[in-house]
Amino acid sequence: MPYLPLSAWGYERYGVDLELPSAGCADFDRLEDEMRACCDHLYMMTDDGTYGEKGFTTVKLKELLEKAKAEGQQYDHCICIGPLPMMKFVCQITKEYGVATMVDMNCIMIDGSGMCGGCRLTVDGKMKFTCVDGPEFDGHLVDFDEAIARSKIYEAQEQKVFERRHHYCNLQAMADAEEAAQKKEEK
Ligand code: FES
Repeated sequence: MPYLPLSAWGYERYGVDLELPSAGCADFDRLEDEMRACCDHLYMMTDDGTYGEKGFTTVKLKELLEKAKAEGQQYDHCICIGPLPMMKFVCQITKEYGVATMVDMNCIMIDGSGMCGGCRLTVDGKMKFTCVDGPEFDGHLVDFDEAIARSKIYEAQEQKVFERRHHYCNLQAMADAEEAAQKKEEK
């Protein structure tokens, strides 16, 4: 994942001093030591509080920006990578506080060849391809609503595939029943 190289680059270039990795629960690859090496302050966030602090990245981000503002400080730059809705809301917040924000849009890339068109997005009113023109863009210029809508185009088909994967097929059910009956007879 490009998170670590981006963090290291940001730390070197901007002296980034905080990191806000987040996940739904504690069950995720934390790469904590590696992230600690790229920052001064690390705030681990989980939606359910099973690891680090409970809450969304956006809430913590706002809290830190507000604290800096109250102390007459200002963060120079924000580097954001993650799911589209999270990046959208991070950008809304950093825009409000006047913090330049770079987003990494690799989450919408498919083949990375410039051929499939899956990574098309609008940046500052212009059509771009993430794998050709990015994957990093000025987050305040990205049309996230369009990107999110595009990411849902095949949602119904994806759901069907997901259901099929978790479908307990009739043949398997018959085989399991036969096996169970055999074991019962053997006893
Ligand atoms: S990922 Fe397919 S065109 Fe960019």
